Amino acid sequence: MQNHIVKLDGGDTTVIVRVSPHAEIVYWGSRLTEVDPDFVDTLTYPVPNGRIDVTAPLTLSPEQGRGMFSSPGLEGHRRGQDWAPIFTATSHQHHEDDGRLLIHCVDDIAKLTLDVELRLDPDSGVLGCRHHLGNQGEVPYSLQRLAVTLPLPDRAAELMAFHGRWLQEFQTHRLAIPYGGYLQESRRGRHHEYFPAMIAGTPHFTETRGEVWGAHLAWSGDHRIRIDTKSDGRRFLQAEALYQAGEIEIAGNATHATPWLYASYGAEGLNAMSEHLHRFVRTELLQFPVETQRPVQLNIWEGVYFDHDPEYIMRMAEAAQRLGIERFIVDDGWFRGRADDYAGLGDWYLDETKYPQGFTPVVEHVHRLGMQFGLWFEPEMVNPDSDLFRAHPDWVLGLAGYDQPTGRHQYALDLCNSEVFDYLLERLDTLLAEYSIDYVKWDMNRDLIQASHLGQASSHAQTERLYALFEELRKRHPATEFESCASGGGRIDYGILRYVQRFWASDSNDALERQHIQRGMSYFFPPEVMGAHVGAERCHSSLRRHDLGFRALTALPGHMGAELDPLTLSEQQFEQLRHYISLHKEWRALLHSGRSVRLETADAERLQAQAVIGDEAAIVIVAQLATPSWAMNEALRIPYLHPSKRYRVTVLDRPEAARDGSHTMRYQVPWMAQESIEATGAWLSEAGLRLPQMDPESALLIKLEVI
Ligand code: DGJ
Repeated sequence: MQNHIVKLDGGDTTVIVRVSPHAEIVYWGSRLTEVDPDFVDTLTYPVPNGRIDVTAPLTLSPEQGRGMFSSPGLEGHRRGQDWAPIFTATSHQHHEDDGRLLIHCVDDIAKLTLDVELRLDPDSGVLGCRHHLGNQGEVPYSLQRLAVTLPLPDRAAELMAFHGRWLQEFQTHRLAIPYGGYLQESRRGRHHEYFPAMIAGTPHFTETRGEVWGAHLAWSGDHRIRIDTKSDGRRFLQAEALYQAGEIEIAGNATHATPWLYASYGAEGLNAMSEHLHRFVRTELLQFPVETQRPVQLNIWEGVYFDHDPEYIMRMAEAAQRLGIERFIVDDGWFRGRADDYAGLGDWYLDETKYPQGFTPVVEHVHRLGMQFGLWFEPEMVNPDSDLFRAHPDWVLGLAGYDQPTGRHQYALDLCNSEVFDYLLERLDTLLAEYSIDYVKWDMNRDLIQASHLGQASSHAQTERLYALFEELRKRHPATEFESCASGGGRIDYGILRYVQRFWASDSNDALERQHIQRGMSYFFPPEVMGAHVGAERCHSSLRRHDLGFRALTALPGHMGAELDPLTLSEQQFEQLRHYISLHKEWRALLHSGRSVRLETADAERLQAQAVIGDEAAIVIVAQLATPSWAMNEALRIPYLHPSKRYRVTVLDRPEAARDGSHTMRYQVPWMAQESIEATGAWLSEAGLRLPQMDPESALLIKLEVI
């Protein structure tokens, strides 16, 4: 049989796609140079006994109609008909210049078309895939599910997935997947619980070893992701936007598209997978209005909460500027009626009782101090105690006749209602222009329940309208940057990353919690989009105490900021924070462009380390999470350095207790007593660097410079 295949190459990855008679990935792995179409015959499946007499292909949209008995790629019907289509690929277009492949498939009986869009990014090797389902009939097609399905090789026998909650986002867990499947669904309209991604790999894959295939759905709404092992041994990953009953109706001659599923293959562990994804985010998704270094932020939220006094805030700004802050953010509490979180959302007009002179003096003051000005909004929400709700109770997202529960005393607004959309656009547009706002922190603090427009489920459309709102605001205010925040990490994904430049990773500023959260986030995101703040000495969300060193070194690699009242700092704390901010500035060019990797430690529960590696230098951050298991700490191996080059190793910052030798752990590693030492990249990567004995919840910062 002649094989109609297209070979896509990108980075160190190759994907081989069958383009006829159906759309199927037959290979996804390490880069291959010479491939004849006939080679793929070596992979042909047999027909097992006790089954139907053909082995159905695992296409990019598996079809029940072919005898594929696992989760199909499409579920839908046209008034009960046309529910089990079989698609035949009739044509394809391969755009070699940018790695794009379009496969057009049809089912003339069901009057449906399926356009499979694939792109292997030539630079990073990240595979993107989405489907467009077309209704060729006149009667609308009711779509229940439309998923992108990627095959996984037989050796992908273990998975890693994410779970979490408010203050504990991006936790990871691992499972073996010998039989059956593993499914995660997110139905809250945001994803604290389940970040929309899964990773499969060869058994016991690590940061540096084993092969991994990781995929992330670029979608900010409800979603479903699964990894299945079929009884015939085939494995696949399937991801989709999750639709409620009756939510998607494709009108005659209309089409419906899935979000993009982005996937990365790592031949050498999770770090390889992340490297591709970070590069892809940097080159393909992130759009900075101006390509500058990420400005260090001060957010006043945990400093003053709702207690806004313009005179005081202006003094905070002055102190912030002295700290080296470059962007000053006024958080929740600036608008009408917002004395606490029971009232005001929806009334996006300045609270003139708090700001009797208007807002301009504050904004101008911040600008005069040479800082950018940022403002908090939560556009999608309304408090029952607000003028907006009193005037338009029907603007609330929900089902007429039922009571909506509040969440943080608020309801969501129906963005599919054009009056709501226009009101929000007008308010934001006006305020952004009036006060010359450089940065918007866009919050979203409630799950969606019975999300519907005119009685029909609308969670999906709500997400699309949100994107449309961003699109329009970005068009009107191209210089303004946006941050996606949803009670912290509830809306962090590549879908919204097309519109925003920063994520608020978590409402937890607890450095210990943040070590886990940020590590989890780092699998799919580079550090420059990860908002990370130095909070108060006693963390507001956990009441834990951490010294400034640990807090600052935890925030240092990300898009750094502070979230405290600088006027309450002692002189010594102020100077220390100023020092860490300038340390961040000194290294941020490397931190935000280098290869950001997670290092492996023997005592991983208690010791975590990361590095950012550039051509000429690298930064290593070691965090001791809990008391070390052993009386002597381990030697940290730092991979990915130039093996033959020599590096000068210098400690840039060490835990307070290790500074003056008065600590109970008096005898420390000898190399740290020297100003610096030298070793080759090969030595540091294979033999390593003996770590000092560190107190729980302390950190160490090391620089490596090529000599
Ligand atoms: C939740 C956010 O995550 C916080 O950072 C803060 O902006 C509050 N909302 C304000 O209400």
